Amino acid sequence: MNIVLLGAPGAGKGTQAQKLVADYGVAHISTGDLLRAAVKAESKLGKEAKGYMDAGQLVPDQLVIDLVKERLQADDAKKGFILDGFPRNTQQAVVLGSELEDMGIELDAALLVDVASDVIIKRLSSRRTCKACGYTAPAGVDVCPRCGGEMYQRDDDKPETIAKRLDTYEKQTAPLVEYYSGNNILKKVDGDRPVDEVYADVKELLGL
Ligand code: AP5
Repeated sequence: MNIVLLGAPGAGKGTQAQKLVADYGVAHISTGDLLRAAVKAESKLGKEAKGYMDAGQLVPDQLVIDLVKERLQADDAKKGFILDGFPRNTQQAVVLGSELEDMGIELDAALLVDVASDVIIKRLSSRRTCKACGYTAPAGVDVCPRCGGEMYQRDDDKPETIAKRLDTYEKQTAPLVEYYSGNNILKKVDGDRPVDEVYADVKELLGL
């Protein structure tokens, strides 16, 4: 299983990826998680990325592309991978295509998790994320059900940044729906239903 998850911020990409990873043991490659880890570690990359993330903008392509290339080479990605939050624009999609071609790997699907903006704003405002492992859950969950870590509200889940992230998505990422539709691998799931119903459709669409 080699798939790309598409969808607006808060559509539920990470939630569906967590379920696929738990059930099928593939690698979860989330550029958002990788970048947040770099910010937490105060690495050179993290220091560079932080300002863009706090402003709801995309981090420059080259920084993210290098991260993903490295991650795709890791052992756990050999069993398959779910790319969550990458690619985020056409340039990243083109680079990913040529990298995978070099590696002799084909994408099985680009899966769009489709949710309306008003639902997304509510979801992100109430999302809590595990400080230790990145697991996400709605507000009210104070201890991570996966690792017992502390749940917190991401800096970019504040109302003013959510609006900027949605704007960035519409301008830069939404065109990828057409891009992958042209490659005949686009699949679309209605993400505005209970998590398990969405997941049942995800599995059916992916032939799992
Ligand atoms: P990133 O971390 O990728 O954020 P995002 O795409 O904005 O996606 P989210 O993680 O916010 O949402 P999600 O779709 O995973 O939703 P989730 O499952 O958590 O990126 C953050 C920043 O990093 C970017 O703004 C950018 O600056 C930078 N960046 C990352 N990748 C980059 C790239 N490739 N290039 C350049 N810059 C990059 O769900 C949300 C909430 O809803 C949760 O509380 C969840 O419990 C709940 N929920 C999920 N599904 C359902 C459901 N079906 N019903 C009810 N609630 C649900």
